[in-house]
Amino acid sequence: MEAIEAIGLRKSFGPQEVLAGVRFAVDEGEIFAMLGSNGAGKTTTIKILCTLLNADGGTARVCGFDVASQGRHVRECISLTGQFAAVDDILTGRENLVMIGRLRHLADPKGEAERQLARFGLSDAADKPLSAYSGGMRRRLDLAMSMIGSPRVVFLDEPTTGLDPQGRLSVWNNIRQMSASGVTVLLTTQYLEEADALADRIAILHGGVIAAEGTAAELKRLAPPPRLALSFLEEEDMAKARGILVGFAVEAEALTLTVETGGSVSRTTEILRLLDDAGITATFAQKPPTLEEAFLAIIGEGAA
Ligand SMILES: Nc1ncnc2c1ncn2[C@@H]1O[C@H](COP(=O)(O)OP(=O)(O)O)[C@@H](O)[C@H]1O
Ligand SMILES: [Mg+2]
Repeated sequence: MEAIEAIGLRKSFGPQEVLAGVRFAVDEGEIFAMLGSNGAGKTTTIKILCTLLNADGGTARVCGFDVASQGRHVRECISLTGQFAAVDDILTGRENLVMIGRLRHLADPKGEAERQLARFGLSDAADKPLSAYSGGMRRRLDLAMSMIGSPRVVFLDEPTTGLDPQGRLSVWNNIRQMSASGVTVLLTTQYLEEADALADRIAILHGGVIAAEGTAAELKRLAPPPRLALSFLEEEDMAKARGILVGFAVEAEALTLTVETGGSVSRTTEILRLLDDAGITATFAQKPPTLEEAFLAIIGEGAA
């Protein structure tokens, strides 16, 4: 069974059409990333799936329940973590978790709080007020709170926006752990590398529809072909190399030339041999297409 299924979701705010027929499905246990620019409609989609907002058209099912007519059942099997930590500043981490456990009518809110603190690496900070938490710790507490009551589907709306690289990495690890425990995760992000690092499948929301969908590898195939990056120590070497490589598609930046190879062995060998024969000192690296380039190619702004 699919954990989430959206079929032709539509939503407008006044004259502005935000969702114009959004369709996708997420398998149970999957991490699914919805990638889109600011204002693409990611939060709107999540709100509809979480029953916080009615769609104007289309249908959606979560855990097999219709979001419009079976909202209560949907709410019982999901949790939602927003872009901004929805936790209480004066309470400690532990108190926040116990409070959620009580709201969810758990038999043992304290025991559950303890388990989630350990799981999200927050045991040491459990009795500090949230005002003493770093951004990353807050976000991890948010994730811990979302796991209370064992939801089957977890919605994470931009879980790492505003975090420093270290905070982001620890949140990534926690999301992987959540997924390993069997929950289905739908996350939204503006960061291509985040989708690349975490998601089993990625959908790009653009222009009110899913403009492309697939694994990171599949989406990268839509990007420009692989290239070779040649780095030089001296301007002079680079200028010489440029002269030798006429006839190849070459881009120059700082002390690096990027040459299109399409990933071909013979083209790559030819380029390297030409440089070597001319006695030019250089180092090289294969540059596979990035998800960023795929994204730009898909949304039609060119691989600028
Ligand atoms: N309640 C609302 N009333 C009016 N416009 C809204 C409302 N919610 C969202 N929008 C607009 O819909 C568009 C999509 O918003 P949103 O779903 O929050 O995008 P994202 O989460 O991808 O950044 C934006 O242009 C936003 O201003
Ligand atoms: Mg949003």
